[in-house]
Amino acid sequence: MLYPLLRNSLFMLPPETAHHLSMGGLQLAHSLPFVKNQLAKQFQYNASDLSKTCFGVRFPNPVGLGAGFDKNAAYLNELEMLGFGFVEIGTVTPKPQAGNAQPRLFRIPDQKALINRMGFNNEGLEIIAKRLKERKATTQSNLIIGGNIGKNKVTENADAWKDYCTNFVGLEEVVDYFVVNVSSPNTPGLRELQEKESLRKIFAALQNLNKNNKPILLKMAPDLETSALDDIIALTNEIKIDGLVATNTTIDRSLLNTMNQEKGKKMGAGGLSGQPLLEKSTEVLKYLHKGIAGRIPIIASGGIFTGADAESKINAGASLLQIWTGFIYEGPMIVKNICQHLSAHK
Ligand SMILES: Cc1cc2nc3c(=O)[nH]c(=O)nc-3n(C[C@H](O)[C@H](O)[C@H](O)COP(=O)(O)O)c2cc1C
Repeated sequence: MLYPLLRNSLFMLPPETAHHLSMGGLQLAHSLPFVKNQLAKQFQYNASDLSKTCFGVRFPNPVGLGAGFDKNAAYLNELEMLGFGFVEIGTVTPKPQAGNAQPRLFRIPDQKALINRMGFNNEGLEIIAKRLKERKATTQSNLIIGGNIGKNKVTENADAWKDYCTNFVGLEEVVDYFVVNVSSPNTPGLRELQEKESLRKIFAALQNLNKNNKPILLKMAPDLETSALDDIIALTNEIKIDGLVATNTTIDRSLLNTMNQEKGKKMGAGGLSGQPLLEKSTEVLKYLHKGIAGRIPIIASGGIFTGADAESKINAGASLLQIWTGFIYEGPMIVKNICQHLSAHK
């Protein structure tokens, strides 16, 4: 009930400042045992009826946090306190990156949307892997961690597979599954790697290293032509891809109303997320689900705000769900609300 008030205050700040401030606040809350227990009671949902196994990993509940929120794996305990069943860290790149110049994250409140061109800002593989190793050694936790991996901006596309392999080796011990991100619109040329030959090269190299059979998924853009989706479906028959994440943000600004299209122009390039993305990403999910005929699981990402949105993704073929923009607009109750809805509508 308090979140709309808090959100109004946070929305007076630039988005990245609000993000750091709220995560700092959560860290403080988590460090105080009484507050931590109260918050856990408030936000966690005992979802034993919703726990499920996908690609060999047991998820305590199907509601996860999408990649790009905790890029550096710095807030996992705090996010677990809020009830997430899993968190996808990253996108991690082999070398640290500052990302694009600020401002690079914009709100469109009347359509519950965001536009971002962060550009894979992250502390780099070495620091992130070290942080995860320390956490693993010192924390008892059921939280499932996905490792979303990408290439550095300076790496040529022809060598991209090497960056994915470096990330894989560095994170293998400390994540439960991997996601190959070739679908961010904010690294020049990255989305060209969604083409079949490039994907084949990346996945072949990764699976060659994958002696312990760690699940490796592919995250896709919602803007792919049907023929490109068909190629990916065909590739899942040919090479081991353990699941799909549908979808990343869109570059399609026609999903905004006319007024916001004008505003969006002023914000410049970037990926659009949130409510306007819901339908488009669900269409891609449906198409993929039909094409792969349930052979591999799909994680739905794109515009999930409510239990009904989550249900529509599951009806379209999703096995797991990820939220991002919904978390900003709806607040931390979103996880429990979705879990309660899913339990009631099973
Ligand atoms: C600020 C911001 C940063 C993001 N960074 C990443 C990223 O680093 N890697 C990635 O795969 N997706 C990234 N995403 C995409 C989200 O994980 C998600 O797929 C997308 O926003 C659609 O979901 P939503 O409508 O619930 O936000 C980012 C999204 C936002 C808003």
